[in-house]
Amino acid sequence: MKEDVKNQLIAEAKRSAEKAYCPYSGYAVGAAVLTEDGRIYGGCNIENASYSLTICAERVAISKAVSDGAKKFTAICIYSAGGKMPYPCGACRQFIAEFSDDAEVIVTDGKEVCETKSSKLLPCSFR
Ligand code: THU
Repeated sequence: MKEDVKNQLIAEAKRSAEKAYCPYSGYAVGAAVLTEDGRIYGGCNIENASYSLTICAERVAISKAVSDGAKKFTAICIYSAGGKMPYPCGACRQFIAEFSDDAEVIVTDGKEVCETKSSKLLPCSFR
C-alpha cells in the first residue's frame, strides 16, 4: 500500500474514533477500510445498555462499505488511544475474513503501529 493511502486510512480511523458511542467502556475505537477500488469507509464502536449488542468499529466500517456496494477490501486500520492496542476481537476477525482476501491490517494507538495480515490473525478461516 502506498504511504499516502496508508496515512489517509489511519487518519480516517482516528477521525472515526471521535464519533464512538462508548458510555459503558469509555474505550473509543475507530476503524477504516480501503476497498479494492480505492474508497475509504470509516466506522466507530457503538455500545448498548444491553452490553452484548455492542458493535465493534471494524464491523461498522465494513458494514458501511458493503451496504454501499463495496464487497471487497484490501486493508483495514483500527485506531484507539484508549490505553491498549485495539487488536480485533474474534468476531471481527471472522467478519474481516469474509470481505477480504488476506487484507493488510494496521493496528495503532497513535504511537505504536502494528502491521499484519488477516490470515495471521485468523489462520485456517472458515469462508
Ligand atoms: N472494540 C472495538 O470496537 N474494536 C476492537 O477491536 C476491540 C473492541 C470495542 C467494543 C467495545 O465497545 C469496547 O471496544 C470495549 O471492548
